[in-house]
Amino acid sequence: MPQKIILDCDPGHDDAVAILLAHGSPEIELLAVTTVVGNQTLAKVTRNALAVARIAGITDVPFAAGADRPLVRTIEHAADIHGESGLDGPVLPEPSIELDPRHAVDLIIDTVMAHQPGTITLVPVGGLTNIALAVRKEPRIVERVQRVVLMGGGVHVGNMTPVAEFNIAIDPEAAQIVFTAGWDVVMVGLDLTHQALATPDVVARIAALGTGPARFVDELMGFFADAYRDVQGFDAPPVHDPCAVAHVIDPTIVRAVRMPIAVETTGTLTTGMTVADLRAPAPEDCRTSAALELDRDRFWDLVVDALERIGEGGVGDADPVAVADGIDA
Ligand code: BDR
Ligand code: CA
Repeated sequence: MPQKIILDCDPGHDDAVAILLAHGSPEIELLAVTTVVGNQTLAKVTRNALAVARIAGITDVPFAAGADRPLVRTIEHAADIHGESGLDGPVLPEPSIELDPRHAVDLIIDTVMAHQPGTITLVPVGGLTNIALAVRKEPRIVERVQRVVLMGGGVHVGNMTPVAEFNIAIDPEAAQIVFTAGWDVVMVGLDLTHQALATPDVVARIAALGTGPARFVDELMGFFADAYRDVQGFDAPPVHDPCAVAHVIDPTIVRAVRMPIAVETTGTLTTGMTVADLRAPAPEDCRTSAALELDRDRFWDLVVDALERIGEGGVGDADPVAVADGIDA
């Protein structure tokens, strides 16, 4: 039985790869895609998500826009990493599907409440604003959701600050609500995602597929590599968000260890830090875990296989240059 997921995202180069991985993997049933402010404005990340839907050939999954600002703070976008569009690099096609009219929070709640308890995994790969609002609006989702597998945080490393990761740091109050809600949370953080580097051999494998969606990812990785080299000194860019999807597909590829994790919201130097308690084995009632170890080869196999299955996606064999040229297919 495929795992049913709701993907909450802010595309975002690595978010785009997460959507493609989820869509192209038979182990996943993608029930909904929701967007949240983060890497860029809500309008931009939502437009980007719809463009990715077209590239992937996703036509039967609802997409809805959510929160346009964090719960209490002023948003800081990541234009240095994702560009002015949020998805700089390739020319994006016009979307071909309409947004669901519901707010993302309502789409999340409706979807969870309409399914059997314990059957849906939430996969947030942006700030946690939508998920926190959904918990506040309909607290019963906490016991109905199977678990939350999120990209964010880190046990030993930060990126937005020395100790805080972007998705947690942009809305730490939302993160605190999500981490303490009472459901199982798997934190796929920077300790793990910094092992998911899109090195030249990986990008060459993707480019060799020769399809429109593969060329799209190749072009995304070109921009992402330059940004990560210039801004954070990486030799190759870490492709964070699909790691959370990969954990749902196969937890032996993205291995997690149970440990208490708390979100710092009031630090002077440490706001947004995910504070993991490694002093002793986790207590029996501990509901949080952190992903620490990636089987890099099998991870990239998942991504390449998903792209292979997607084929030409929504671009169509007859017009394989449409994505690169931004021409309507
Ligand atoms: C996270 O921040 C965003 O820029 C990426 O899309 C990813 O979700 C990594 O810190
Ligand atoms: Ca993201």
